[in-house]
Amino acid sequence: MVTQDAVLDALRAVKDPEAQQDIVSLGLIRDLAIADSQVSFTLAFTSQSPASKATLHSMASRAVGRVPGVSKVQVKMGAGQPARSAPAPHAHGHAHGQPKPENFIPEVKQTIAVSSGKGGVGKSTVTVNLAVALREAGGAVGIIDSDVYGPDIPLMLGTRGRPGMFDNRIIPVEAHGMKMMSIGLLVNDKEPLVWRGPMIHSFIQQMLKDVNWGALDYLVFDMPPGTGDAQLSLSQVIPLSGVVMVTTPQEVALLDVRKAIAMFQKLNVPILGIVENMSYFVAPDTGKRYSIFGEGGGKKLADEYGVPLLAQVPLDPATRQAGDEGTPITLRAPDSIQARTFRELSMAVRRRLDELGALRPLPKIG
Ligand SMILES: Nc1ncnc2c1ncn2[C@@H]1O[C@H](COP(=O)(O)OP(=O)(O)OP(=O)(O)O)[C@@H](O)[C@H]1O
Ligand SMILES: [Mg+2]
Repeated sequence: MVTQDAVLDALRAVKDPEAQQDIVSLGLIRDLAIADSQVSFTLAFTSQSPASKATLHSMASRAVGRVPGVSKVQVKMGAGQPARSAPAPHAHGHAHGQPKPENFIPEVKQTIAVSSGKGGVGKSTVTVNLAVALREAGGAVGIIDSDVYGPDIPLMLGTRGRPGMFDNRIIPVEAHGMKMMSIGLLVNDKEPLVWRGPMIHSFIQQMLKDVNWGALDYLVFDMPPGTGDAQLSLSQVIPLSGVVMVTTPQEVALLDVRKAIAMFQKLNVPILGIVENMSYFVAPDTGKRYSIFGEGGGKKLADEYGVPLLAQVPLDPATRQAGDEGTPITLRAPDSIQARTFRELSMAVRRRLDELGALRPLPKIG
């Protein structure tokens, strides 16, 4: 049987000579369809020269033709919308007939939310470490702390001071080579934050519209726990590329994540996959592995929803300490198991974004 993965792997070997990147990562593959041994897809060209278009068309066709089991390849050429910045209308959770939301962040390629059903499972830790790993892989990365109730990102990235203003727009703060915005940068951290639904909606809109993010490959959102106004607002305000669901392995945590997944599915937000955090603990003295919160929860969820288990992150005191002290573990201890796991997570997320991009139909023009 010909699988989507096999076809995408073959296509990853084809590089755009101008952009020096493979055509899957560039988001050129759309409408990928596999029917038995026949494969068809569209090359959604953007600014390629006519010569490059012709070369890429024949290279892509040949690469897929060599995949075992493929008998026929049909490659269409699509027209010039930039690949990721203008996703198809169906992907953003708006019912037919409703006005299309304005694109507040046209220069941002991928928007990733990190969410969970429960509090304290490690969303913020996953957010900052995933962001660092995406940055290390060469991406331009921004972080929006959408946890309006408990904005932890400034602490975890060690940022102080207020964001600046230029031309009536907010300049995000810089932390470890990334851009970041959080309500925590604007308020006194001893004051409780009381929010009503509409305020959350306008806060999220403001974080996109009034902040000068510039060109970014990834904008990562740290979400508050649960299935509340922030999740709803975010998925209404922008077409999210996808959501990473964080859970701990035990049954009670899974129950809440199921509700959260169901909510995102209802809102048409693609589920990128599951991160099982605090998966296990390796005793530093004996090397013995303990499953403190039980075993297999992440895998079970992933199988249940047919999404990948993106990573299993061990429980590790240094990770907590790194977060408290403002330098994510992936930066502080790049050779640790934690850092390796977060780098693998970032690769799994990128792969998954490529795949979902390939399944997305081309936007209709005219
Ligand atoms: N793998 C891990 N090993 C050790 N400590 C961890 C790990 N992941 C997270 N922690 C710690 O657990 C605590 C909760 O994590 P974090 O703040 O990331 O969770 P959260 O889901 O964002 O919580 P909240 O719902 O309150 O926003 C933090 O002190 C964090 O440093
Ligand atoms: Mg948090």
